[in-house]
Amino acid sequence: MNDFKFHVKPIGLFDMLHFKKMVPARQKALAEGSLECITAKRGANKLAALFHPAKQVLTISEIYSHGENAKTYLFSGEGLAPFRAGQYLSFKLKIGGAVLTRPYSITSSPKEAYEGKYTITVKRAEGGFASGWILDNWKVGDKVTCSGPEGIFYYEPLRDAKHVIALAGGCGITPFISMAAAIRDGFEDFKLTILYGSRKEEDILHKAELEEIAKATDKVNIINILSDEQKEGYAHGFITAQRIKEAAGNEQCSLFVCGPCAMYEFLERELNVLGYERKFIRREVYVAPQSPKGIPGYEGDLSKELTLTVRIYGNIHKIPMSANETVLVALERSGIDAPSKCRGGECGFCRSRLEKGDVFVPKTLDYRRMADAASGYIHPCSCYPLTDLAIEIWPE
Ligand code: FES
Repeated sequence: MNDFKFHVKPIGLFDMLHFKKMVPARQKALAEGSLECITAKRGANKLAALFHPAKQVLTISEIYSHGENAKTYLFSGEGLAPFRAGQYLSFKLKIGGAVLTRPYSITSSPKEAYEGKYTITVKRAEGGFASGWILDNWKVGDKVTCSGPEGIFYYEPLRDAKHVIALAGGCGITPFISMAAAIRDGFEDFKLTILYGSRKEEDILHKAELEEIAKATDKVNIINILSDEQKEGYAHGFITAQRIKEAAGNEQCSLFVCGPCAMYEFLERELNVLGYERKFIRREVYVAPQSPKGIPGYEGDLSKELTLTVRIYGNIHKIPMSANETVLVALERSGIDAPSKCRGGECGFCRSRLEKGDVFVPKTLDYRRMADAASGYIHPCSCYPLTDLAIEIWPE
C-alpha cells in the first residue's frame, strides 16, 4: 500500500491579508470593466489585422495613362497591409444598381506599401463592364474600397526554382512588374526572365519602367514578343516551347503564367511539349469567362432564362438569371452584396451551398475541396446555371 503524506500548513498572516484584499480587488476590476473588444489588442491579432484587413480605404493620388485604354492608379493610405509581389487587391464597386468586385494585381514594389502606396493598372476589357467604368470614372482624390492583399501567386523559395521564367500576355504583365521591383529593392531574391507577349509595340504596358528595373539589376531580364507586328529590337511570334527552352538554358526553372484565357489554352500545349514537373508550373487564376460558350464540356442551353432563389443575411430573394452568365454575376446584377474576391474559383470566398438545381463547373476553374464538391457546395463566381437554382450564402 502506498504511503501518502500530507503537509498541512497553518494559515499564515500573508494568506489572511491576500484573502482580505481579494474582494476589493475583484470589485475594482469589475468597476473598470469595458465593453471594448479586446481581441485586436493582442499581439497575434494585431498582426493578423495588419496583414489581412477585411477592407482598406484608399485615396487615388495620381493617374497615368497608357494610351486610350489603360491607366495606372497610384493609391495612398495609412497603415496599408504589406503584401508579397504577385498578390492582388479586390475592389468593391457600385455601378448603377449592381454591387460587384474586381481583382487587380498590385504593380508596385512591396517596399512602397510601407510608404503608404499601392499601384494597379486597369486595361479596358473588350465587352467588359467594370474596367471601362473604372477608366471613365475614377479620378484623383476619389476614395475607393478594396480587400487586403490576396492570392498565392508569389515566389516561394521552398517550392520554386531560383530562376523564374514569367510568361505574360497583355495585362498579365502586372504581377511581374511588382516581382521585378521587389527583386530590385531587395524584397525578393531570385532570377526573373520575363517573356512578354503583346500584339503591337503600342500595346506593351510599363515598358519604360521594366527596362529601368532591368538596368538596375542583372537579376531581371525582359524579352518582348510581338505577334501582329515585325519590328527591330523585338522578337516576333508567340511564347512557344522553343522560346521558353532558350530562356531556361540548362537551368531548372519555375514557369509563372499570367495572361488572358486564350493564352492559357495555347501555353497548355506548349508546356506539355516541355514536360516540366507540375510543381514548377504556376498559373495565376484568371477571372471566369463571361459566358460558358465554347468551354470544353459545356452542353447547356445558352438561351435559357432562369430563376435564382438565394438565402443571404436571413432574407430570401428570387432573382432572374441567364444560363449565359455565372451565378455570381446574376447576384451582382440584382444588387445583392454577395462575397467574392478572386472571381476565378480559387479563393473560396464566395463558397455557397447549392440547395436545388444543377450548375456547370469548368474543370479549369474547379478549385473546390473534394468534400465540398461532393456535398453540394459551389463557388458562384466560377459556375454557370443549367437549371433554376436555390443557394444559401454565408456572408463575411
Ligand atoms: S470569389 Fe474566389 S472562389 Fe469565388
